[in-house]
Amino acid sequence: MSAPTSAIESVLVENRVFPPSDAIVKAARVSGMAGYEALCAEAEKDFEGFWARQAQGNLQWTKPFTRTLDESNAPFFQWFADGELNASANCLDRHIGTATENKTAIIFEADDGTVTKITYKELLARVSQFANALKAHGVAKGDRVLIYMPMTIEGVIAMQACARIGATHSVVFGGFSAKAVHERIIDAGAVAVLTANYQMRGGKELPLKAIIDEALAMGGCDTIRNVFVYQRTATACNMVAGRDKTFAEALAGQSTECAPVAVGAEHPLFILYTSGSTGKPKGVQHSTGGYLLWAKMTMDWTFDLRSDDVFWCTADIGWITGHTYVAYGPLAAGATQIIFEGIPTFPNAGRFWQMIERHKCTIFYTAPTAIRSLIKAAEADETVHPARSDLSSLRILGSVGEPINPEAWMWYHKNVGGERCPIVDTFWQTETGGHVITPLPGATPLVPGSCTLPLPGITAAIVDEMGNDVPNGAGGILVIKRPWPSMIRTIWNDPERFKKSYFPEELKGYYLAGDGAVRSADRGYFRITGRIDDVLNVSGHRMGTMEIESALVSKTDLVAEAAVVGRPDDVTGEAICAFVVLKRSRPTGEEAKQIANELRNWVAKEIGPIAKPKDIRFGDNLPKTRSGKIMRRLLRSIAKGEAITQDTSTLENPAILDQLAQTN
Ligand code: PRX
Repeated sequence: MSAPTSAIESVLVENRVFPPSDAIVKAARVSGMAGYEALCAEAEKDFEGFWARQAQGNLQWTKPFTRTLDESNAPFFQWFADGELNASANCLDRHIGTATENKTAIIFEADDGTVTKITYKELLARVSQFANALKAHGVAKGDRVLIYMPMTIEGVIAMQACARIGATHSVVFGGFSAKAVHERIIDAGAVAVLTANYQMRGGKELPLKAIIDEALAMGGCDTIRNVFVYQRTATACNMVAGRDKTFAEALAGQSTECAPVAVGAEHPLFILYTSGSTGKPKGVQHSTGGYLLWAKMTMDWTFDLRSDDVFWCTADIGWITGHTYVAYGPLAAGATQIIFEGIPTFPNAGRFWQMIERHKCTIFYTAPTAIRSLIKAAEADETVHPARSDLSSLRILGSVGEPINPEAWMWYHKNVGGERCPIVDTFWQTETGGHVITPLPGATPLVPGSCTLPLPGITAAIVDEMGNDVPNGAGGILVIKRPWPSMIRTIWNDPERFKKSYFPEELKGYYLAGDGAVRSADRGYFRITGRIDDVLNVSGHRMGTMEIESALVSKTDLVAEAAVVGRPDDVTGEAICAFVVLKRSRPTGEEAKQIANELRNWVAKEIGPIAKPKDIRFGDNLPKTRSGKIMRRLLRSIAKGEAITQDTSTLENPAILDQLAQTN
C-alpha cells in the first residue's frame, strides 16, 4: 500500500456545479442540503439510535433486536445481532396484502427482445416453489449454493429462493472460467449448483452448463450433491444422471407456498468473490440484516424511489451491483424494475435508449464504461444516438463502478438526462454492500466527476499512511472510521486476511477502502483517484494484477516471469498490460503476436475472458531492483507510453527499460 502521489497532480479544475432544481428538491424524500444535513446530524448525535430506527422502520423482523451494534470483537462488528428476519420475506411477503402485490416486480427483456412481466405475487409463488425444490433435495439453512446463471427472472428467483431457506448463495459471473468456478465451489464448500444450459448474449448462445461440468470434473468438489439446470434455450446439454436435474424436473409437484426461515441478523446471506492484492480471490461475506437494510434504504435515499418508478440497474447479478440493486434493493423497496439479458450493442448500440423508451424507465443506473462506449457508437452512427429515442420518462440517472470522467458525465447529463435529471455518481465496493459516498438527487449540488459526500452515518475520511486526517485539497487514503450496517463481515474461511486487508494496524482501526481520494478545497467533495493497491478496474470489472500474473506464469512450458499493470484506456477506464519473459528467446513480429494471442487465450481459460490482457510486451527480463523486486512503477510508465522520469538508480538492469518501451 502506498499513498497515491499522483492524486494531487491529477485534481481536476472542475468548476461546473449543477444544483437540483427547486421542483426536484421540493418533491424529494431527502429534501435539499438541509434535509441531508439533518440526517447527518441525527446520525452523529445518536449513532446507534439512528441505525436502530432505520432498521426498525425499513425491515420486518420476526424477532426484534435489542442491541444495535456490538463492537466487542472489532473489526468483526455485529449489527442487530439478536434480531431475526428473512431476506426473501422482506423482499416479497411484505408486499402481499398491500397495493404492491399485483404490481409488476420485474419487466424482463430477453436478448432477442421478448418481454416477460411478473408481479410481486407471482414472483413470491415462484420463489417459494423453487425454495421447496431446494429443500426437497436436502439444501438447508447454512448450506452454500453456487449460482452461475444468466440475467433472467430465474437468476433472481435462484438467489431469493436460497435466502428464503437460509442457504448462503455465492453467485459467480457467467464470464468466469471453469477454473474460477472450481476454486469458488471448493472455497465455499457448496452443496449445489444452480445454472442454465446456455445464456444468450448478442444473438449468440454461450454455454454455462458445460463450464460447470468442466469445473466439477476438475475434482475435489465432493460437497456438490445436485446441479439444477434452467433450460434457457432449446439446445440440449449434457446431463449427469443422479446429479443433474432441469429446473422443471426439480419444481414438478412442489407447492408454491414455503414459509420463510427466520435467521439471525448476522447470518451470511451471501458470499461474493472479488479480487484483492494477492492471487486468490476473496470471498466477501455479507450479513442478512445490515445488508438488507442498506439495500432498501439506499433505494430510498440515493434513488429517491417513488411507487410509480420504473427502475433499471444494468449490472449483472454476478457482481455486487446486481446483488444490491437488482436482486434485493428494488424488491425490498417494492419497485418495478427492468432486467435485461443481453448486451448494450445488440442488435444495435441504441438498445439502452430504446429500452428506456419502451418501458418508460424513470431511474437508469449504469457504468461509465457503458456510457463511454455508447458515446463512441452514437458519434459514429447517428441512428443509435439517444436523441433518436424518447427519454422523457427519465428523472434520475446513476453511475457506478469506476470514476466517471467529466466529459462522459456532461454527455450523459445532456444527451440522456436532457439536462434535467440529477446524476448520482455512487461510490462503493463489494465490501461496502451498498452506496457509501454519493449525491442525493434532491439535495446535493453536483460536480461532474465527483461522488460528492458520504451518506448520513458514513464516517468517510481521507488520511495519510499513519491514519491522520489530511486537509481538503490534498490526496490520501480513503477510509471509513466507524462501522456501518452493510459492511463486509469477514472473508469466508480467512478471518486473518480480513483483518489484514481492511483494518491494518497503522490505520487506527479504520476501514481501508483500497482507493485513493481527494476532497475539494471548497465543498469538501470526494473524488476517487483510483486504487492504491494492485487491483485494476477494467470496464468496471475488478481484477487483481497478481491473479493475472499467476495465470500467466502457470503456463509453465512457455512463461518464465510476468508482471501485470494497468494503463488508462478511453473506453474501459483501465486496460490490462502484461510484461512477459518467456522461457525461450524473445519473440518479435508475427511470432510475438501469435504467442501473445496464445497467452490471452490461456488467461481466458484460467480466469475468464474479462481478464485477457489488452497489451502483451515481451522482454529479456523485467526491471528489478538489486534485491530482485520488480519495479512496477516503471512498468506503469512504460505501459502508458510515458518517458521515464523516476529515479532508476536502484535498478539492476536499466537497459531493459528501452527494450520494453520499444516492444509492443
Ligand atoms: O476503485 C473503486 C471503484 O470500484 C471499486 C470497487 O469495485 P467492486 O468491488 O467491483 O464494486 C463495484 C461496484 C460498486 C472501488 O474500490 N469504484 C466504484 N464506484 C466508483 C468507483 N470509483 C470511482 N467512482 C465511483 N463511483
